[in-house]
Amino acid sequence: MTYRAGIVGCGRIGCGFDDDPRRGYVSTHAGAYTRTTGIELAALCDLDEEKLERYGEKFSVPGRYTDFAQMFAAEKLDIVSICTLSATHLEIARAAVESGAKAIFCEKPIAESLSAADEMIRLCAEHNVVLLIDHQRRFDPFHQRIAAFLREGGLGRVQQVTCYYTAGVANTGTHLFDLLRFYLGDVKWVEGRISANASSSNADPNIDGWLGFSDGAVAAIQACDARAYTIFEIHLLGTKGRLRVTSHGFSAEFEEVRDSGRYSGYRELFPSTLPIDADRPHEVMLNGVAHLLDCMETGRNPVSSGEDGRAALEVICGISQSALECGSRVEMPLTGASLHIASK
Ligand SMILES: NC(=O)c1ccc[n+]([C@@H]2O[C@H](COP(=O)([O-])OP(=O)(O)OC[C@H]3O[C@@H](n4cnc5c(N)ncnc54)[C@H](O)[C@@H]3O)[C@@H](O)[C@H]2O)c1
Repeated sequence: MTYRAGIVGCGRIGCGFDDDPRRGYVSTHAGAYTRTTGIELAALCDLDEEKLERYGEKFSVPGRYTDFAQMFAAEKLDIVSICTLSATHLEIARAAVESGAKAIFCEKPIAESLSAADEMIRLCAEHNVVLLIDHQRRFDPFHQRIAAFLREGGLGRVQQVTCYYTAGVANTGTHLFDLLRFYLGDVKWVEGRISANASSSNADPNIDGWLGFSDGAVAAIQACDARAYTIFEIHLLGTKGRLRVTSHGFSAEFEEVRDSGRYSGYRELFPSTLPIDADRPHEVMLNGVAHLLDCMETGRNPVSSGEDGRAALEVICGISQSALECGSRVEMPLTGASLHIASK
């Protein structure tokens, strides 16, 4: 069987990132669909006709629309990618579900508010539609192995975590909070402060802060100036060693605890070999689409579900609320949160 896929939003993640010759892996929804057996990329939609034509030609897509409702009515799509900004995700998801789509591959953050995320999750559950959120490191076996390594106690008790990110608590923070949840489990509380380091958007500030996890681990969140360079790192200090996830999650460094050569009776961290191979290809978009197909065909729960997307959004809302209240501790789950976030 061949599934018919369509993409709403032919910007960077929808179609454009694959124009970058430095990206050594498939980086867009269009690139992943056109390389996946069992999927035909049947239609594209964008308000911008120039992009529509450019990527329609590049990916040989016959259906081209400026109105997603017209696309859904005409194309009978099985799979819909939502690659527009988060404020539009709910209305596109609703139209996709009502048109009979079987799966939605939705960009992050899932939505602009918790109530919109709840409605997307409800609609998809009611109509038996697979909802996969593109927190794409979850599709990478490298991060899956790190999560398992932590779960199995490879690092001992995680005693401190420090994270560095740029470009907005919603835009990049959603990836960071989701990956921390993937590694460490549910977030119990958050504290935040507006960072002195600029974000790439005034509407989506950088926030420094703390996240407390249900098993007692605590993570410091540190924002850096997006104009200087881009960074995404997670440093985990366990009782048995230190793991630094570096290079935007493409590599990692591992140190283990041994007797100190410097001081008698003390132990220190020494460079060691991570028992996880970071050099394999990080084909997150191809893996994401393969996983979407698997969920459609087996009924399996997505590794990056609507609920996971909502949980990352809840942390964004909580830490933003705390920053508005000068860093006061905000407990999870949030009650009555009416915050609307702005994000790419
Ligand atoms: N998962 C990732 O790693 C990743 C990376 C980049 C962006 N994103 C997310 O993807 C989304 C899009 O980001 P981007 O950087 O590609 O943005 P972009 O601005 O490059 O592209 C968005 C496109 O959507 C189109 N659009 C907007 N409203 C529309 C509508 N109603 N109907 C049809 N088309 C419409 C715009 O014309 C534009 O071409 C955001 O939610 C962003 O956070 C995710």
